Formats: sequence, structure tokens, C-alpha cells
Amino acid sequence: QPSWKWRFLFGFQWIQAVLLFLSSHAVSGHIRYSIPEEMKKDSLIGHIAQDLGLDLKRLRSGRARIVTGESIQYTELKVDKGTLVVSERIDREQLCGEVASCSFSFEVILENPMELHPVTIEVLDVNDHSPVFKKTHIILEISESANLGARFVLDSAEDPDVGVNGLQNYILTPNENFVLKQHVSPEGSKYAEMVLQKQLDREAAPHLSLRLVALDGGNPQRSGTVNIDIKVLDANDNAPVFNQSVYKTIVTENSAAGTHIVTVNATDADSGTNGHITYSVSNAKSNIAELLSIDPHSGVLSVAGEIDFEKDKKFEIRIDAKDQGGLTDSSKVIIEVVDVNDNPPVINVMSFTSPVSEDSPPGTTVGIINVKDLDSGDNGQVSCKIEGNAPFRIKSNLRNYYTLTTDSVLDRESVLEYNITVIASDSGKPPLSAKRIFNLKVSDVNDNAPVFSQSAYDAFIGENNSPGVSVLALSAEDPDENQNNARVSYILEDSSVNGVPVSSYVSVSADSGVIHAVRSFDYEQIKDFQFIVKAQDGGSPPLSSNVTVKILIQDQNDNPPQVLYPVQTGGSMVAEMVPRSADVGYLVTKVVAVDVDSGQNAWLSYKLQKATDRALFEVGLQNGEIRTIRQVTDKDAVKQRLTVIVEDNGQPSRSATVIVNVAVADSFPEVLSEFTDFPHDKEYNDNLTFYLVLALAVVSFLFIACLVVIISVKIYRWRQSRILYHSSLPVIPYYPPRYSDTLGTGTLPHVYNYEVCRTTDSRKSESKFGGAGSQNMLIMEPSSTGTMQRIQNEKNILDEPDSPLE
Ligand SMILES: *[C@@H]1O[C@H](CO)[C@@H](O)[C@H](O)[C@H]1NC(C)=O
Ligand SMILES: *[C@@H]1O[C@H](CO)[C@@H](O)[C@H](O)[C@H]1NC(C)=O
Ligand SMILES: *[C@@H]1O[C@H](CO)[C@@H](O)[C@H](O)[C@H]1NC(C)=O
Ligand SMILES: *[C@@H]1O[C@H](CO)[C@@H](O)[C@H](O)[C@H]1NC(C)=O
Repeated sequence: QPSWKWRFLFGFQWIQAVLLFLSSHAVSGHIRYSIPEEMKKDSLIGHIAQDLGLDLKRLRSGRARIVTGESIQYTELKVDKGTLVVSERIDREQLCGEVASCSFSFEVILENPMELHPVTIEVLDVNDHSPVFKKTHIILEISESANLGARFVLDSAEDPDVGVNGLQNYILTPNENFVLKQHVSPEGSKYAEMVLQKQLDREAAPHLSLRLVALDGGNPQRSGTVNIDIKVLDANDNAPVFNQSVYKTIVTENSAAGTHIVTVNATDADSGTNGHITYSVSNAKSNIAELLSIDPHSGVLSVAGEIDFEKDKKFEIRIDAKDQGGLTDSSKVIIEVVDVNDNPPVINVMSFTSPVSEDSPPGTTVGIINVKDLDSGDNGQVSCKIEGNAPFRIKSNLRNYYTLTTDSVLDRESVLEYNITVIASDSGKPPLSAKRIFNLKVSDVNDNAPVFSQSAYDAFIGENNSPGVSVLALSAEDPDENQNNARVSYILEDSSVNGVPVSSYVSVSADSGVIHAVRSFDYEQIKDFQFIVKAQDGGSPPLSSNVTVKILIQDQNDNPPQVLYPVQTGGSMVAEMVPRSADVGYLVTKVVAVDVDSGQNAWLSYKLQKATDRALFEVGLQNGEIRTIRQVTDKDAVKQRLTVIVEDNGQPSRSATVIVNVAVADSFPEVLSEFTDFPHDKEYNDNLTFYLVLALAVVSFLFIACLVVIISVKIYRWRQSRILYHSSLPVIPYYPPRYSDTLGTGTLPHVYNYEVCRTTDSRKSESKFGGAGSQNMLIMEPSSTGTMQRIQNEKNILDEPDSPLE
């Protein structure tokens, strides 16, 4: 606008000047001054008076002044000095804008005569403006994937100065990526653009800060700058990268689900979704996928299932890392499984022998076992031992094989069976163990002889016992087992008692060990005897032990006392003489008696049973002494008869009486006259003798008759057989085995004999009864047992033909 205005004004001024010149004709030459713009007020522009050729008086008189059509008076005329000075700031840019040559004109008018002098002042440009950008920052967002050669037009700067002082050049901060290219627009303004010459990399430099400087050509040069902020936009140009190519780690078996194993880490230089990584397990076998799991975002690999060292000792998996753009990396994870002692040893019995014989030597193998432990290393290192102190040993000869052997001699009688506890334990921490109990039975061997319950037996039996009565029961125990080794048989050892085989005294029941008396004993003949009984078991070979049995026969009061003195004779008369002068206490005689029994049964006492005069004599109770107890008088009869009874102390007691004749006289004739007849005793004795002789005669006759018959029969048979077999054997006369002629004394023998024939097996004993001597009779006591009767029956069946009882 100002330029238009000024042009108009100049036109007007020019017309005015022309008019003035034409009217006055006093127009002098044209003056031009050149001044730079922006001069200070009162700065000298030029010596106008001098330049116009006027002196100062003329100026004054002519009232020189400046006329201008402008409102603003830039210059002032100093009349007194004749100079033209700046009166107002002159801004070329304001005055002329972009017009390159800028000037303004005015006239100096003088009056009297009127003179008109045109003055033109050319305003020269001064570089008083810097190039200016409209904004202080230029913000650009450029993808890092931008192609090379891409152009980015930048805002241009403006400089109102003209010519060289105007905008001349742009300069960009040196950088690798961009170069600056400058252009001139059709309107003539200059602008610049950045051209990409090297790929951007957000990852290396996400931001670029550049400065664009606009320069003018003035002197001094002025410039303006703008900051260019370039934000590099991401492109998915980076793949994830694992920070390790192989991850090695360990995991213990049986770890709980969720246990952290390892964290893999991949980084992606890209940002945003391009850098968002997800992890996954690739290539894993299906079972591994069940055991392990990876967090897709954090890369934490953890336990998901049951990890069993016994199945997998090592895992090798590949892990992929993938960004959202699809770029991937993979890495290997090697996981070693660490064994945990989670498997107890297992005991397998390869062989086991039971029962084992008790005579097995130490070191006998009883069993072989095998132990297994699925764990490895120390956890699978198994050792076996036996619990407690059983006499066994376990040792390993092959790896994991153990033999169980006896360590000492076994004895079934002390320990029947063993429960051998074998413990197998591994060396883990803590160790695991397994237990197995072997029930071993010890089998019997006949290693023990029967043992009697007493080292010796004493048994008492009253005399006159009934044959077959049981005297004593022996018992022997055999600690061995089973039927044979422990079956005890009792055997009477052969020996003789008083020259008679002991078997004729006693028999032993083989099964029960009961000792039976075979005969009736007479204490007066035998008081005791001893023999040996053997207890023998049924083992092979049999074992036996002996015991001594002593049988003590006890006395019974079976014998009456026998009076030895005074001797009782049949006819003759013996009398003790007592003189009439005998004092009181005179020893008349002494009854002497004995009793073959013993003890109390033989303890005799004497009593006066009958007496002619009881007041005259007494008998010593203990000693049998007959003494007077008063003075003998003449009135006392010569013939005194005393009956003394001798009693033993047995239960019941037995007694004997003796008659003692005492003659109270001073001379022998006196005695004779008195002792002439004692008829009754003789008569009694005669009768007795008669009966005895008669009985003996009858018995003897019967016996001889029998003998004759038997011999006749035997001879007859022998002849028959001789005829039959034409034998040339000599004739042997035969007598019954127990035959003996014991006929004798004429007294009845009260001793009887019988004989027991024994076979080696005492259970089949056979009794044979034979009469001894002339008495072919068996005397059975009323207390005779059933056994005896049975034996008698057997005897009848098994009777020998030669028996005298046939
Ligand atoms: C991965 O590694 C980088 C650098 O080593 C680290 O800054 C980042 O935190 C790690 N990431 C994880 C999940 O540990
Ligand atoms: C890789 O990253 C994991 C998880 O952050 C870290 O434990 C491991 O030390 C890193 N490895 C290296 C070599 O930096
Ligand atoms: C051995 O074990 C068995 C069965 O448990 C038991 O009956 C027996 O009494 C035990 N024997 C010993 C000697 O401990
Ligand atoms: C038992 O006694 C018999 C006969 O006296 C003898 O031969 C045998 O050796 C004895 N046996 C023992 C075990 O003492």
C-alpha cells in the first residue's frame, strides 16, 4: 500500500514542480543524495546550500523551505547551516517494500525570486533484518522404513531486506541421514527440502534434532534458525533376540507344579507391538509339553507335571520368541533332571530254603535275594543288613545280589524258627529302606538223647507184693521233634541180682516207662537191688541214656518172733532152778527171741501171759529177763509154769509164746519128784507129726505118679518120631526145665517161684509159670491183678508142650 501511495504522491509532486518551473523559469539543477536507511535523527544528509550554489543569506532571505506532498517529513533543512539532516527514521522496507531501488523526492523552495530545486534522496538498503521462520519448531514424523530419496519440504524463512541483504541461503545441521536441497519458487522465494540419503533407524536414534539456518548476504550477515524435531516411527525391522543361545539349568524331580525352572529372555529392539514378544515351546514331544510350561509373556519356564527322573533324565526343548510382526528367534533349553531319593529299594527273593536242618554247618546258604532301586547315584546305592542279632549273615557277592547264610550252628531245641528281618536301605538323604521278613524253620535232627527227669530213681515197695504191681514210672524226655527222634522207649538193661537175671524181678513197659514187679519180694531175702533202664529214642541212629533204678523193699511184719531160748523141745523137760533162798530180783532166766523182720517189726517186747503165781515173777518188757519180785517162801509150789508172750511191734503185731518151767527148790531130787508128768504138750506134738507125715506121703505119691506118666509119654513119642524119620540121633532123656527135687524137710515151703520169659521186645513178654520142686501150684494172692490173669490166659494159649503143667 505505501508503495502505491508514494508513487501517487511522487506523481503529484512531479506535476507541481513542472508547473513551478514553467511559471518562474527559475529552476536550477536536480540534486540527488544517497543515504542509508535507519540513520539517526539530525544525521547530515548533505550540504544542500553549497550543492545548490546558494549562500546562506539567500537561503535566509529566500525563506528556503522544503515542500513535500508527504505527511511525514523525513528531512529537515537547516537554513542557518545550509545542511539537510534526517528528521525522521527512514525505513527503506517501510518506504519501498520489496522494491529494490528506493528513493523519495522533495523540493526546496526559495522566494524572492522564487526558486525551486528538486531534491531526490535515494534510500539505500541496510541489512537490518534477519531471515525469520514463522515457527520455532518443525516437527516431523518419519517412518524408519522411509525410502532413500524421500523429500521433506521445510518451511521457508523471510527476510524483508532486499538484494544481498535478503535471504540468500539455508544451512542444515550436518547429519548422516539427510541432505538439504534448495529451490527457488516461481515467485522468486527460496525454500529448502531435506532428502533422505541414509535409512533411518529408530532403534539407533528414535529422535533426530536438526537445525535449519537461513542466512542473508548482508554484512554483517544475519541468520534465522528453526529446530527440526524428527520422530522416527518404528517399523518391524528387528527380530527378537534371545540373550543366550542355550540355557542350561537343572530341575529336581518331583518338583511341585509351578516351580520355576529358568527364565528365558529375548529382546526386540522394535517398540510397541513390534517389540512385544511371546514365548512358546516348539518341537517338544507331547509328554514334555505336559511336564513343562512357559509363560508366553514373561518367558518363565516352570514345572507343569510330574517330572520323574526315572523316566526322563534330561529335557532338551526349543523355545521360540515371536514378535507381533511375526519375526522370531529360537533358543535351546537343556534341563537336567536331578534325581531325588523317591524310590525305596525293592527286595526280590530269588530263592529261599526253609526248613533248614539244624545240623547245617555255619555258612550254609539259606536264601538269595536281589535288591533294586530305581534311583541313581547314592540314591540307588543299596546295602542290606539283618535286623537284630539272629545268627545269620547277609553278604553281597554280585552287585545287588545277596546271599543269606547261617552264621553259627542252629539248634532246633532252643530256637524253633527264626524271623529274619532283612533291611535294604539306600544311601540317599534321607535314606529309604525296605524290609522283608523271612520265616525260617529249623528242622530236627536226632541230636538229643532222651533225658530222665531224675538222675537216679529210688522206689519203695512193700514185701509180699502181688506180682505185676507197678512200682514206679520212669519218664524221660527227648527234646527232639517228630515221631522217631522224640519217641522214647524204655529198655531194661540186662544184669543180674543175686545171680538171677534182673528181668525175673522187674519188667519195664517200653512205652510208658512203668516198672512192674514181676514177683513178690521178700524183704528177709532181698532188701534192695538196682538195675539200669535205658531210654532210647527212635532216631537213626538212636540215642539213649541210662538211669539207675534202685528198688528198696520195705519190710512187713510177716514173721512172728522166734524164741531161741529157752528151747522148746517136744518131750524133754527143762526147768530153771530158783533156790528158796533167792532174794527179790533174782534173775531166773532170760527169754531170748528174734524176729527176722526188721525195724518196728523186729522190736520185741516180753510179757508174762500166764503164771502159776503171778505175784512171784515178772518179765522184763524189753529184755525178757525173768526175775522174782518177792521173797520165795516155803509155801510156794516147787513147780512153777510161766507162759511168756513175745510180741513184735508191727502192725498188726505178731507174737510167740514160750513156756518157761521154773522149779523152786533147793535140791535136784525135789525137782524130779515134782516134774514127772506134763502130758498135754506131748500129745499135741504127736498128733501134728502124724498129720504132716501123712500129707507128705500123699503128695510124694502123686508126684511120682505124674513123673512116671510123663516119661512114659515122652519115650513113646520119641520112638514114634524115630520110626518116622529113621533118625540116628541118640536118645536124650527129657526133663522139665525147672524140675528139681526139693523134697525135703517135711515143712511146707511157703516160697513159690515163677519165671518170666522175656523177648527182646518187652511188650510181647510172655510169662511162664512153673511150679518149683514138688509143689506144682500157683499161689494167687487175693490182690492179684488183671494183668496177671491176662498173662495166665496168654500162657494157656502159648503153652509150651514141655511145660510141666501140660
Ligand atoms: C531381559 O534382559 C534385559 C537386558 O538384559 C533386561 O533389561 C530385561 O529386564 C530382561 N527381561 C526379563 C523378563 O528378565
Ligand atoms: C538372560 O536373561 C535371563 C532372564 O532375565 C537372565 O537370567 C540371564 O542372566 C540373561 N543372560 C545373559 C547372558 O545376560
Ligand atoms: C515269626 O512271625 C510269625 C508271623 O508273624 C509269627 O507267627 C511268629 O511267632 C514269629 N516267630 C518268631 C520266633 O518271632
Ligand atoms: C548204658 O548202660 C549200658 C550197660 O551198662 C552201657 O553199655 C551203655 O554204654 C550205657 N550207655 C550210656 C549212654 O551210658
